[in-house]
Amino acid sequence: MAILEINSVSKRFGGLTALDNVSFQVEEGEIRGLIGPNGAGKSTMFKNIAGFQVPTTGSIHYQGQSIEGKQPHTIAEMGIVRTFQETTLFQELSVFENALVGTHIRARSNVFSAVLGLDRQKQQAANDRVMEVLDFMGLIERKDQLASELPLGSQRALALSIALVSEPKVMLMDEPFAGMNGEETSHMMDLTRKVRESGITIVLVEHDMKAVMGLCNYLTVLNFGQVLAQGTPEEVRNNDKVIEAYLGGAR
Ligand SMILES: Nc1ncnc2c1ncn2[C@@H]1O[C@H](COP(=O)(O)OP(=O)(O)O)[C@@H](O)[C@H]1O
Ligand SMILES: [Mg+2]
Repeated sequence: MAILEINSVSKRFGGLTALDNVSFQVEEGEIRGLIGPNGAGKSTMFKNIAGFQVPTTGSIHYQGQSIEGKQPHTIAEMGIVRTFQETTLFQELSVFENALVGTHIRARSNVFSAVLGLDRQKQQAANDRVMEVLDFMGLIERKDQLASELPLGSQRALALSIALVSEPKVMLMDEPFAGMNGEETSHMMDLTRKVRESGITIVLVEHDMKAVMGLCNYLTVLNFGQVLAQGTPEEVRNNDKVIEAYLGGAR
């Protein structure tokens, strides 16, 4: 059964149609690539799935349940999280403290009790979970460093860690490879695979074709808000419409 079902979703901003009757399904356990030229509607799709925007028309089902229009924190509690961008890390907090933020993504009612130290048992559980994730992501030696001191690769690993701490079932990753060199890309690919192997379904928006082709089992291609093509990386790579969409402007 599909864990995520996008059914005829359109999103309009005034006269601009950012998503135009988009439908696709994501199977549990896959790494789905959502690719397309700039302005195709990829980030808008993520915002609509995660509840930061509401589709103009259409429906989004998660584990068979309709979620469009639900609040972002409700959707996060249900198990869908977007990864943080490095710009949303708390630069003056440590790696550990940043990761602790992830424990509040789901347990919203615990924020104040955690901050006020009212519930030591829950605090200990949160600390344990953070240490487990930092270990898993190879960040344990850096746990006391400030986020601002981290190299790019570690900042992205921390962004991933914050999401992981909340024990998601689906992770929406928006351009996690942007600006990375070859070595950083390989490391991030390894981490992404590890996340998938831990049982989390991943939807990956990414321009880095090495990462997309190397990680994804299936791709959905958006262009001008519409689904242009779907298929395996091999099929998509050889699809004339896709080649035209990517190279058309360059010719
Ligand atoms: N909040 C918004 N208001 C108006 N237009 C928007 C808004 N968000 C995105 N758009 C427009 O919708 C289109 C798709 O944007 P986006 O989803 O960010 O594309 P992508 O992530 O594929 O590059 C673009 O034309 C963009 O300018
Ligand atoms: Mg985008």
